[in-house]
Amino acid sequence: MIRSVIRGTGSALPAQCVTNAELASRVDTSDEWIVERTGIRQRYIAGEGETTSTLATAAARAALDAAGIDAREIGLIILATATPDHTFPATATQVQAALGCNGGIAFDVHAVCSGFLYALTTADSMLRTGLASKALVIGAETFSRILDWEDRTTCVLFGDGAGAVVLEAQDVVEDGPGIIASRLHADGAHKDMLYVDGGPSTTGTVGHLRMRGREVFRHAVVNLADVLKEVLEAAAVTAADIDWVVPHQANARILDATARKLDLPAEKVVVTVDRHANTSAASVPLAFDAAMRDGRIKPGDLVMFEAMGGGFTWGASLARI
Ligand code: UT7
Repeated sequence: MIRSVIRGTGSALPAQCVTNAELASRVDTSDEWIVERTGIRQRYIAGEGETTSTLATAAARAALDAAGIDAREIGLIILATATPDHTFPATATQVQAALGCNGGIAFDVHAVCSGFLYALTTADSMLRTGLASKALVIGAETFSRILDWEDRTTCVLFGDGAGAVVLEAQDVVEDGPGIIASRLHADGAHKDMLYVDGGPSTTGTVGHLRMRGREVFRHAVVNLADVLKEVLEAAAVTAADIDWVVPHQANARILDATARKLDLPAEKVVVTVDRHANTSAASVPLAFDAAMRDGRIKPGDLVMFEAMGGGFTWGASLARI
């Protein structure tokens, strides 16, 4: 059977790291509050010259190196972001030009924090139908540029970064590597709980992120547990078969609550929210790359990816490495 096999991963972070203590000197907050409520200890913030496309390109290059694949072999680039360099063209096309692999398919996917799951699932479908044979799937964000730095309820939670995976369509056996099952959902009724109060067609400005955190938290735990069960069922496996969960990194308490709902031991959950904070569409591939590079995730492991974000949108995907 044809499956999309993960050939390599990569990531990139801005040069500047900002600790909770540094933030507390500018905003009415404290290291204790941020650590206790979220698990976040620091975040990376893009500086001059660092944009979503530069971070995405660096992550893509690292993933291509890890895969041992030349950029010119890539026929499809899907980049998940809610913070593109420009309203248009798609940031994916800028990454394509920087990598020197022009001529294939390149476009952005916008599903906020679930963006990487949406991009991965779209790329998987396109590879399996033969539209391309090798793809780059990237999650990249510069949320620092849409934060209201006067609003302590949101500005302490987010960071910037990018993560990428290289996928290749391969003919594999049933228990071989590749993406096994994915499920995606959206419910636009909840727009007001997490949104940006600007945009080209409304205010004509970029706007700032607004979030009713407690409500988002409640929806996240329920929706994530439901979609994880759906994917387990679709793949005919149980939670006990999973080697690693690579979740969207919004809040350590959401990760704990979701793992508990599924009876998954906390040791199987990859956690990087302490180092990266919430990097929206970049958080899953950033965490995945960290666990691939430090050797925790190994060939043959069964890995579950999951995310939930603005919209609401949410989804999960199961892959064998
Ligand atoms: O990535 C997309 C999905 N996003 C998420 O999943 C985020 C989900 N939500 C969350 O992670 C949590 O709800 C937050 C971390 C955003 C907030 O944690 P919480 O435990 O729900 O806190 P809260 O909003 O109920 O606020 C508790 C208190 C409030 O004070 P009062 O009203 O109890 O006096 C806030 O004003 O904490 C106060 N507070 C802060 N204090 C110090 C809010 N932000 C801060 C802050 N520093 N930065």
